[in-house]
Amino acid sequence: MIKACIFDMDGVLVSTEKYHFEAWQRLAATLDIVIDEKFNENLKGVSRAVCIDLILKHGGIHKTEEEKQQLAAQKNEWFLESISHISPQDLFSGVYEFLTLLQEKGYKTALGSASKNAPLLLEKLQITQFFEAVIDGNIIEKAKPNPEVFLRGAAAIGVEPQYCVVFEDAISGVQAARAAGMYCIGIGSAEILTQANFCISSLSEMKLEMLEKLKT
Ligand code: G6P
Ligand code: MG
Repeated sequence: MIKACIFDMDGVLVSTEKYHFEAWQRLAATLDIVIDEKFNENLKGVSRAVCIDLILKHGGIHKTEEEKQQLAAQKNEWFLESISHISPQDLFSGVYEFLTLLQEKGYKTALGSASKNAPLLLEKLQITQFFEAVIDGNIIEKAKPNPEVFLRGAAAIGVEPQYCVVFEDAISGVQAARAAGMYCIGIGSAEILTQANFCISSLSEMKLEMLEKLKT
């Protein structure tokens, strides 16, 4: 039986994925590199440093480590500008209700995000109290699809991987959850998130019975 739910943040709880994409597009444009929504699927879920490498590789451009750090800092500055006005109203529909229900029913919960901005966003969204553990980009060493982020999350809340379900919108995140030996419910299209156990379009579709049906 499922005992814990582990949530990705961007694109699952809040629509910040679009701000990441806009900032990456703007940064890529300064290097004369064009990135589209399809390419962006590869950027979802992976760390800031890995995103820079993927974009530079896509454009066939080489940069030094120092230049890459400057690019990452610029992107983050634009991203922080975009999220400066984020408030609880920006939560995806159904998120607050589902987190409240899980808490009432005694499910364990953790956040597993590659973002270094995760604690800031949880605070802005006023949902920090729903997570017993927050594993984010400041803590993890290996980016998704490595399972580290979810395995650490499960360990922090004391639940074995097979009793955990991960909610993910990124291909790399779904791969990480499955590699961790966990169930994965994809948020988005089953054609893109092919390795998820099943997909829903948002957490507003989630019912407790769906968790109870998952066999462990
Ligand atoms: C998440 C998002 C990615 C983002 C990454 C790093 O995984 O899905 O789009 O690039 O976090 O975020 P950060 O806020 O640390 O730059
Ligand atoms: Mg995501």
